[in-house]
Amino acid sequence: MLFSETARQLGGNLKANVPQPCDGDGKRDLQRKWSGDSVAPRERGRCSYSPHGAYAQSKLALVLFTYRLQHLLTANGSHVTANVVDPGVVNTELYKHVFWVVKVAKWMTAWIFFKTPEEGASTTLYAAVSPEMEGAGGCYLYNEERTKSADVAYDEELQRRLWTESCKMVGIFDESSRVP
Ligand SMILES: NC(=O)c1ccc[n+]([C@@H]2O[C@H](COP(=O)([O-])OP(=O)(O)OC[C@H]3O[C@@H](n4cnc5c(N)ncnc54)[C@H](OP(=O)(O)O)[C@@H]3O)[C@@H](O)[C@H]2O)c1
Repeated sequence: MLFSETARQLGGNLKANVPQPCDGDGKRDLQRKWSGDSVAPRERGRCSYSPHGAYAQSKLALVLFTYRLQHLLTANGSHVTANVVDPGVVNTELYKHVFWVVKVAKWMTAWIFFKTPEEGASTTLYAAVSPEMEGAGGCYLYNEERTKSADVAYDEELQRRLWTESCKMVGIFDESSRVP
């Protein structure tokens, strides 16, 4: 399962497949964190850190962030565009810290199932230089095609809250607070 983790898949089935810290519900977990609600002590006792779950949340946050960024760019009349690129499963050093069994499995199968780094870069290049992407923003790209991300990534309230909380965390004024 680790190797098949991509933002698209996260997106596709976040609640069903991705183990989440505390409550198994990525969206609810993020919402609770960003609303400042504390986890009840009894519930906290059951929490356990999951690298896989944390990675999944970080990828969801990237997608939410990008959609919000595009929204703000458009609201400001900017011609700059922002898109999400899913490279697929790529044979990089990303997995070097995982459990050794997973590493062995990866070593044995990567040459069949994984993309090379060059192949993995193709959709990024497509987003950056393809004439088809000229002026197009807020897209989710996979295998050089526009596709849909998880429903939760289109939750505008969640996008807005991620942005607001990110500004708070890095200590900058949230200029987007006036933008709906
Ligand atoms: N490879 C894929 O299949 C794939 C698919 C979708 C998205 N991505 C995303 O693409 C981005 C670049 O990854 P890459 O595949 O190009 O790999 P990469 O070049 O090998 O880079 C991975 C980076 O992540 C750091 N890292 C790895 N495990 C970590 C951990 N447990 N805690 C903190 N840092 C850790 C590494 O730091 P050190 O070198 O210091 O360990 C390294 O700087 C990542 O955001 C990844 O999620 C990758």
